Amino acid sequence: MEKHVLALQLSHLLGEEYSRDWVHSLIEIPKQEELGDLAFPCFQLAKSFRQPPAKIAGQLAPRLKHDLFASVQPTGGYINIFLNQRFVTEHTLKQLLTSGTDYGSHEFGANKNVVLDMSAPNIAKPFSMGHLRSTVIGNALANLADKCGYETVKINYIGDYGTQFGKLLAAYKKWGNEELVRATPLPELTKIYVKFHEESKQNPSLIEEGRDWFKKLEQNDPEAIELWKWFKDASLTEFNKIYNLLGVSFDLTRGEAYYNDKMDTTVDLLKDKGLLAESDGAKVVPLDKESLPPCLIMKSDGTTIYATRDLTAAIDRYHSYKFDEALYVVGHEQTLHFQQIKHVLKKLNLPWAQDIKHISFGMMLQNGTKMSTRRGKTILLEEVLKEAIERAKANIEEKNPGLADKDLVAKQVGAGAVIFHDLKHDRRNDVEFSLEDMLTFEGDTAPYLQYAYVRAQSILDKGEFKLDKADVSLDDSEAWPLVKQLRHFPDIVEKAYTEYDPSKVARYLLDAAKTFNKYYAGTRILQEDQLDARLTLVHGFSLVIKEGLRLLGIQTPNKM
Ligand code: ARG
Repeated sequence: MEKHVLALQLSHLLGEEYSRDWVHSLIEIPKQEELGDLAFPCFQLAKSFRQPPAKIAGQLAPRLKHDLFASVQPTGGYINIFLNQRFVTEHTLKQLLTSGTDYGSHEFGANKNVVLDMSAPNIAKPFSMGHLRSTVIGNALANLADKCGYETVKINYIGDYGTQFGKLLAAYKKWGNEELVRATPLPELTKIYVKFHEESKQNPSLIEEGRDWFKKLEQNDPEAIELWKWFKDASLTEFNKIYNLLGVSFDLTRGEAYYNDKMDTTVDLLKDKGLLAESDGAKVVPLDKESLPPCLIMKSDGTTIYATRDLTAAIDRYHSYKFDEALYVVGHEQTLHFQQIKHVLKKLNLPWAQDIKHISFGMMLQNGTKMSTRRGKTILLEEVLKEAIERAKANIEEKNPGLADKDLVAKQVGAGAVIFHDLKHDRRNDVEFSLEDMLTFEGDTAPYLQYAYVRAQSILDKGEFKLDKADVSLDDSEAWPLVKQLRHFPDIVEKAYTEYDPSKVARYLLDAAKTFNKYYAGTRILQEDQLDARLTLVHGFSLVIKEGLRLLGIQTPNKM
């Protein structure tokens, strides 16, 4: 609010050519308290006003007046604004009370919908760290979109098709042991798949066999189909265990194979528009003008590929949902693929092609290199999650053995630690995998935030806080940094969604919890004087922490 007021007044004073939005975008929040609560830099005005920034600041400052501003001071080339703490505190607490868990919501997404392509693990392979990233980032973005008013559709586009399944079928026919696959499907299928790769280096006829099995699969050979279905069901059962531990669900689970009988239409469409060209017997869409390599649509043996399925799926999704945005939460190694998809759709004159967005993220590295199934380097995610939950349980047994619902709390804390460890990093960066970092509950972690929430709850209990006793007229300068933090939350939610960056929420929550802990350490909250007003602030803080964690897909226990 205060930013809007300041932007409005300044753009009035400066004249038409300085829009409110332009001013708004320049407003800063000073890092040092002595520099006030808001600051406007005058450096960009110097040229057109033909005056030094400090002079401009000196002229503008006395003309800025509002109930919200306690004082306005020019400092160097900046205008520094000190807010009226009592007024702003009351306003903030009132907003928190009236909005409750809706605090921080927006309406800019109303009547719009977002389709998210997320998780998308490949059957017969272990659920990888990359798929974990896609799952938790996608889930957080869906929650943020929902908070901003959008309808959301979360789609799990399972990798259940492609020539690799020919290889897997061939491998199973050679070395597969039904009993072992039934007992531990993913490790067993991975093992024979890796073996197939190793042996085909010496024995190229294996490649031929793989190709034959893929042909059979494409031609609906009953044996091929039966095995494929079995592998798919067994894989999904395993994946569901992970989704349960993470607390993530989907609106639609639909694999690549769903599009098999729908791709002819896409190929015909491309042909009719004259977009297809021959290249060594294969069919491609040339993308020279876009300075991209051609998009392969059909191989020389007539089989279609990943890109063709994605094109078909995108068209199908648009028909089903008329989406306003389609977000593909997929690692950055697929950047070229999504550029190609988007450009081919544009060439088909589909206006919604521009609403397709690749939300890319960095890789999980192990000793600086990518983790890969083929090299057998994958770490089993289910193990990681279970280990995290066990450690949380052990922690509880040690520190609070009398706690009720220990298993539930352990799950919330353990899964929370793993999810937060991912989301606190900027999604674009590669992350070096460290089990220790992932499983630590100290420092910048979800358990630290959950603990701050639990502490706030226990203060509220001790003070016997009730909503009908809430008091917004808090007059406490010690509380000011916390009030300001709580005020930022709605902005953070908006930025996190519009920049598709959940780490904004994660880092904000850490700052808010640190500010709260400082307040708690420095102020006796449970003293007579202004008790209800202080508790109202604590209540506001716990609302924000819980809601922020929920947006990240993390649950908050009441006690731990
Ligand atoms: N299953 C693919 C993989 O693991 C990811 C699929 C991403 N989504 C998509 N629409 N292409 O690499």
